[in-house]
Amino acid sequence: MKFLILNGPNLNLLGRREPEHYGTLTLKGIENLITAEAETLGVSVSFAQSNMEGELVTLIQQAAGVYDGIVLNAAAYTHTSIALRDAIKAVGLPVAEVHLSNVYAREEFRHHSVIAPVCVGTVSGFGAGSYLLALRGLIGRVS
Ligand code: DQA
Repeated sequence: MKFLILNGPNLNLLGRREPEHYGTLTLKGIENLITAEAETLGVSVSFAQSNMEGELVTLIQQAAGVYDGIVLNAAAYTHTSIALRDAIKAVGLPVAEVHLSNVYAREEFRHHSVIAPVCVGTVSGFGAGSYLLALRGLIGRVS
């Protein structure tokens, strides 16, 4: 099984971006943890990050037929992007929504996700652990 780990805007700044919300691990550090977990679970993972909404849409479209599912931290686009929602729906791949922070304990505008209804589930608030839990969840869904 093969999964795409896709990160949205500003997540390239992890490590120095609002550590009180997102911790001190860099994106590379999180990716290393996911790689180790994937090895343990016997699946393969690839990584991508973009600050651009259209590029994320293209990456989701291109995942069809290549990956068995996507672990997606759409970051701020979670709360706004109908284009991402439509792309997820269009490709029909299982997508797990993840957030490092507990979005429900933060500003009200973060409480609503426009992508949640087209994702298989959401993991929020466990830092890097959110990605690991989501990967396990997706594997359970696919197998
Ligand atoms: C985030 C939460 C979003 O509200 C925010 O815009 C992000 C990161 C998280 O991982 O906690 O950029 O998705």
